[in-house]
Amino acid sequence: MSAIESVLHESRVFAPSAEAAAGAAISGMDAYRALMAEAERDYDGFWAKLARETLSWRKPFSKVLDETNAPFYTWFEDGELNASHNCLDRHVEAGNGDRTALIFEADGGEVTRVTYQDLLQRVCRFANALKRRGVKKGDRVVIYMPMSVEGVVAMQACARIGAPHSVVFGGFSSKSLNERLVDVGAVALVTADEQMRGGKALPLKRIADEALAMGGCEAVQSVFVYRRTGGEVEWHAPRDIWMDEAAAQEADTCAPEWVGAEHPLFVLYTSGSTGKPKGVQHSTGGYLLWAAQTIKWTFDWKPSDVFWCTADIGWVTGHTYITYGPLALGATQVVFEGVPTYPDGGRFWNMIEKHKVSVFYTAPTAIRSLIKIAEADAKVHPRSYDLSSLRILGTVGEPINPEAWIWYHEQVGGSRCPVVDTWWQTETGGHMIAPMPGATPLVPGSCTLPLPGIMAAIVDETGQDVPNGQGGILVVKRPWPAMLRTVWGDPERYKKSYFPAELGGKLYLAGDGSVRDKETGYFTIMGRIDDVLNVSGHRLGTMEIESALVSNPIVAEAAVVGRPDDTTGEAVVAFVVLKRPRPEGEEAVKLANELRAWVGKEIGPIAKPKDVRFGDNLPKTRSGKIMRRLLRSLAKGEEITQDVSTLENPAILEQLAQGR
Ligand code: PRX
Repeated sequence: MSAIESVLHESRVFAPSAEAAAGAAISGMDAYRALMAEAERDYDGFWAKLARETLSWRKPFSKVLDETNAPFYTWFEDGELNASHNCLDRHVEAGNGDRTALIFEADGGEVTRVTYQDLLQRVCRFANALKRRGVKKGDRVVIYMPMSVEGVVAMQACARIGAPHSVVFGGFSSKSLNERLVDVGAVALVTADEQMRGGKALPLKRIADEALAMGGCEAVQSVFVYRRTGGEVEWHAPRDIWMDEAAAQEADTCAPEWVGAEHPLFVLYTSGSTGKPKGVQHSTGGYLLWAAQTIKWTFDWKPSDVFWCTADIGWVTGHTYITYGPLALGATQVVFEGVPTYPDGGRFWNMIEKHKVSVFYTAPTAIRSLIKIAEADAKVHPRSYDLSSLRILGTVGEPINPEAWIWYHEQVGGSRCPVVDTWWQTETGGHMIAPMPGATPLVPGSCTLPLPGIMAAIVDETGQDVPNGQGGILVVKRPWPAMLRTVWGDPERYKKSYFPAELGGKLYLAGDGSVRDKETGYFTIMGRIDDVLNVSGHRLGTMEIESALVSNPIVAEAAVVGRPDDTTGEAVVAFVVLKRPRPEGEEAVKLANELRAWVGKEIGPIAKPKDVRFGDNLPKTRSGKIMRRLLRSLAKGEEITQDVSTLENPAILEQLAQGR
């Protein structure tokens, strides 16, 4: 049964407990509705109040939302602030310098605690090191690092000097890194000698060297290297510089660079349905406001909480719910280098117990894989650990099937902790549709209702509202402060992708299908409506994988689709036509593995097809269009019931159905 079908069969409702409601920021549905009504009555006033309460402004703003150049909206435009000042200095100045900011746990289990005072000093030193190398306000810095204190320091240091960062996930290949370095026009790169994951060392510096050698990024004058393992690296002086040595020479104070609220804080690449990944550009003021505000609402955050978001800083979740949101609030959080299955499948539960985590935020894929491990081995089952510190559980990045939701709720949360299923995207900056623990009755599989101020709706292909109960296209009707500002270097693509003329040009198109419940109005996400796949909560464009495949000299043609997968949500299936006869048996297995490795090298291991099927051709219409609908059915192993009369070559279906 697909996740979506099973959602429709889960009808239990989990009302907030009296305990969760007591003292919650939003303590019931009336409080939620009042906030929504306030936003509808006075949109500018609603957001201005939050922005004044949540952030510290160097220069107060007088303007709130400016729609004159729609869809290039601006927020709080004449206000000035600094993100790093908001995340660090203001807590130290308020006397909280001794508070623990980060509890870092390394892959091998070593724990390092960093206070707000320490973190501020480390950020200042590295900010000074960047400046010494000539990095200035507006310059772009690419960060290709493992999960580490240094990764957070590098991001915050960029924010401190007003240099937008662009973090590239450490699992991306040299080619993907090169493309991002070139597109964003980086002047510096921050990386590490190696990355440790699950006891294995991965050579980040070597990959970074390869990426730089591919060319087009000659503007990169400095490569800062965090010494993680001490492993061998090639050295290119004077370009390369050890991060610790650079920082050691510097003062531990650095005045923040005050920037306008619209100054780009970062650019983060994400896959779209067409072409190369898009550089999603975020602002400083609006983004930071929402990063902090959503933690207060969705996780009902309290100063006594120990917060743990298991995402990597290479994704938006790590930006908003590690580097910016928790620090803007002065929270204490766990940062984890490793993987959930090393040294065993009890790692998460062990860490929750050890660090007394109260708010835990992870991806459904992780939960699903841990269910399998825990159910097979009582030693690593959550019930073998003391998880009584937990208060709130969250999920992100992909639909959660009700079975996994219930297990998470019962086995991890002891049936005490609300599970907040948060729908949002790289582009939205922070949570958009999510329950509020003290208010929203929960329905497994539904992300429930939009957060206050977020005007989410479901429309048809012409942009007209559809009634509840009828599926459609998920849109946001009004701009919100944390929305992306543009696609880096490609404003036309921003307009076309997110505010398409077919929908009237004013609705933000999320790219997801959704349906609202007839009675409650709750949203259920039905997955992407474009050619984007979601594998383990990671976004992958089918076109990107297809171009990677056809760049292999033996491949003539390739088409990539997704199919449901029990663990990863979706899996990549590639249909491939070779420039040589269709391989069979052993030969097919060998070539499929070669192509998988090829995609891993071209894009990164996350994009490797799970299944590669060879055909003499692909199913095409007489006008030569590949019929993806049929390929999706074949990938799922479904019988073809669709009309295939328009197909040029119907016999090919049988061949492709057989797999390899
Ligand atoms: O399809 C939706 C899915 O992930 C996409 C956004 O991916 P990305 O920009 O990489 O951000 C992931 C982390 C926010 C969405 O368009 N998605 C995200 N959260 C959910 C979800 N699908 C269902 N339920 C969710 N809670």
